[in-house]
Amino acid sequence: MSPREERRAITAGRGRKIRWTLGLLRPYRARIFFMALAVIISTASALAPPYLAGRAIDAGIEADNLTALNVTVALFVIAIAANAVTSWLQTWLVGWIGIRVLQDLREQVFKHVQRMSIGFFNRNRPGTLISRMTNDIEALNQLISEGIVTLFANMLTLVGVVAIMLLLDWRLALVTFAVLPLLLVTSLVFRRYSAGAFRETRERIAEITAHLQETLSGVRVVRAFAQEERHITKMTELNEANRRANMTTVYLNASYFPATELLTAIGTAAILLFGGWQVIEGNIMVGVVISFIGYLQLFFDPIQQLSQLYATYQQGMAALDKIFTLLDTEAEIVDSPEAIDPPPLEGRITFDQVSFSYEDGGPWATRDLSLEVSPGETIALVGSTGAGKSTLAKLITRFHDPQQGRILIDGRPLSDYRQRSLRGQMGIVPQEGFLFSGSIAENIAFGRPEASIEDIAAAADAVGATPFIERLSDGLETEVGERGVQLSSGQRQLVAFARVILAEPRILILDEATSAVDTRTEKVIERALDEVLEGRTAVVIAHRLSTIRRADRIVVLDQGRIIESGSHDELLAAGGRYASLYGSWTSAVS
Ligand SMILES: Nc1ncnc2c1ncn2[C@@H]1O[C@H](COP(=O)(O)OP(=O)(O)OP(=O)(O)O)[C@@H](O)[C@H]1O
Ligand SMILES: [Mg+2]
Repeated sequence: MSPREERRAITAGRGRKIRWTLGLLRPYRARIFFMALAVIISTASALAPPYLAGRAIDAGIEADNLTALNVTVALFVIAIAANAVTSWLQTWLVGWIGIRVLQDLREQVFKHVQRMSIGFFNRNRPGTLISRMTNDIEALNQLISEGIVTLFANMLTLVGVVAIMLLLDWRLALVTFAVLPLLLVTSLVFRRYSAGAFRETRERIAEITAHLQETLSGVRVVRAFAQEERHITKMTELNEANRRANMTTVYLNASYFPATELLTAIGTAAILLFGGWQVIEGNIMVGVVISFIGYLQLFFDPIQQLSQLYATYQQGMAALDKIFTLLDTEAEIVDSPEAIDPPPLEGRITFDQVSFSYEDGGPWATRDLSLEVSPGETIALVGSTGAGKSTLAKLITRFHDPQQGRILIDGRPLSDYRQRSLRGQMGIVPQEGFLFSGSIAENIAFGRPEASIEDIAAAADAVGATPFIERLSDGLETEVGERGVQLSSGQRQLVAFARVILAEPRILILDEATSAVDTRTEKVIERALDEVLEGRTAVVIAHRLSTIRRADRIVVLDQGRIIESGSHDELLAAGGRYASLYGSWTSAVS
């Protein structure tokens, strides 16, 4: 792309972003209309008092006209009252709209993240995603709600003040505007430095969030290896960088406001000198000078606020870029419009020369793999660590799409089915079981929230989880996770198992689902499995011989390839990898 094309692409991108941002406001257009009305009335009513004060002096006091004084003061009070009411309305509406836009934004980003394919979560750290959904969304919201109103109201005030000043006395107006270049230079300098400083603070705070998240999730490892100090040191460094970035903005703010105050004072002095001289000369009336002093503040305030707004704009645009990059990331795996909801699956799984790598161009995790699992068959996947067993399981559930080859279920490619309804007929007990905060019953019913408590209890019973659940204070209703009891790994596996049993999948995938439970519990589970697996296809990844031997067929993986496959006896007789694995098992047991 040529630089020119690139620039055009960026501008086009910006246009799209702005359209999208305005789209967020569309549902609230009626309120926005009233808000704009409130802004206009409050601005207009704020412009009146300095003029009225001047008139009270010139037409009332100086002219010894009590009626004119009374009328002007009454108008003055009315203007202030109108301003109070409309300012209240404006602030309320801005808040009202802002809160809803924030809510919508968060929902939109969250929904989008939920739709992402699993590969996306391998590439993005949770801390970064959390930062998008908190810090960045808030910065963007600030820009949309307050930013737009500040811009509109201040521009309006500025135009109004300039017009009134020129109408009142153009010479005095020109004297006032003489300070403008100084103010502009100050504001530009401020703008220039603050843009970088604010970007810096946002990046630093995102790093802190990410480090916090990682430390908290990994707290047990940190503790076990006594590496608290290192994590504290890292945090201290990040915190220090954050402080430095923030100090720059503090310094900038601290200098900018006194500087503009100083300029206001210079402006006031100029008006008093020049205006006073004109009054003495008899060219203008004293009320005009009073009005001008009032307008001077109204003239400088918007300029200050607009410079401030630039920081909000910078932060909001940076956040918008990040959120947009996130929203622009398409899920790698999307349902085609022709995808169907499968009828109850028979459960035939076919791998046709499948090669898969987690990263394009990276090492193959699955290589040229062909495999056929018949309906109702149970196969056991065996192989050393990193052989590609879990990968195979993730491919069946279409967490990832292979780069080469095809995977078919009941003779149709996975892509023929809608992902969600396909997975709805598959049950997975993953290697790392996860429990959500909530009761044990809710966790078991995760895939079938409408299940009755009897069904839930039956599922728990089938996997032999009842004894441990009964020992908990509230049985099935015991809260687990963040605010409840902590379960052991084996207990978590049992809950995950019960969850799958309850969902009654047509295809069952167990990734070392029983590796953390004792042998007796495993026996219970195996008996339950015999029942559950009746008529269903199952892929079982296990390290325990007893589990493996029950399978109809054993498939041995090595570096992503199938190196052996057959029944226990066949493989033993063949004297290959499985036979040697078996040898080490039996010697370990004896
Ligand atoms: N999320 C991932 N991103 C990148 N590479 C991965 C990812 N998960 C696994 N791999 C790689 O893919 C290969 C196969 O991993 P896989 O998890 O399938 O092994 P496994 O047979 O299940 O091992 P284990 O018995 O330890 O569970 C490994 O070389 C691993 O480094
Ligand atoms: Mg694994």
